[in-house]
Amino acid sequence: MIIAQISDLHAQPDGSLLFDKIDTNTALTRVVDHLNAMQPPPELVLVTGDIVNDGTPEEYAEAARHLGRLNAPIFPIPGNHDDRAALRRAFADLAFLDDGPFIQYTVEDHPVRIVALDTVVAGAPYGALCADRLRWLETVLAAAPDRPTIVMMHHPPVATGIDHMDDMACLDGADAMGEIIERNPQIERILCGHLHRPIHLRWRGTVVSTMPGTAHQVSFDLRPGVAGTWRYDPPAVQIHLWRDGLGLISHLDFPGDYGPRQAFGHG
Ligand code: CO
Ligand code: CO
Repeated sequence: MIIAQISDLHAQPDGSLLFDKIDTNTALTRVVDHLNAMQPPPELVLVTGDIVNDGTPEEYAEAARHLGRLNAPIFPIPGNHDDRAALRRAFADLAFLDDGPFIQYTVEDHPVRIVALDTVVAGAPYGALCADRLRWLETVLAAAPDRPTIVMMHHPPVATGIDHMDDMACLDGADAMGEIIERNPQIERILCGHLHRPIHLRWRGTVVSTMPGTAHQVSFDLRPGVAGTWRYDPPAVQIHLWRDGLGLISHLDFPGDYGPRQAFGHG
């Protein structure tokens, strides 16, 4: 089974640039084309939040138009830049984004089970897991303790060493989440976005990872206390390959133009 993951699209209204500079929509076109051309193709595409930048219907119209071109079905969760109601309206054909206070659901029909968790605090850059969301997580994990499972959430429940991003992680409720995760060894991975960088660490008996965005990246900068900046590090998609007996193997793949594939050797 092949699962693609994309994150932090920050789509703009048609014809607009993010910060008057970043062409997030053209970047999204490139990513969609890249995934559609992949052989063998991904069976589903996880979209780990920050689908748009300001939560407006115009942005979601663009995001939905681009993501609607994907050959594989999409499974989105909101990030801090998203608006739950506008997201639901733009993706009204996705019946699993039902009307509760949170956008949380499971995907059951594949060798790897997906548990989508909502970390958004409306109006805040950081995330949180309240008692309701934690109870839901505990219940859905308990329903299938023997099935390999991916938990996806926009904000990581950990600090990463990039100070200004750690200030807006999902640390409120993270300890309680960690206790639930420790009781569920079927969790192969916790897949996050938000960081606009590829980062991996062991946490509570599983592996937490973040990934690059589809357009712009957070600068790599481990100096304490410095203000956040962005740069044009290469955008990436993450491809999670499930193989029975091996587990979940995660690859970064780069949709930019890096030239043709070439044979090893001279001449
Ligand atoms: Co983002
Ligand atoms: Co974010």
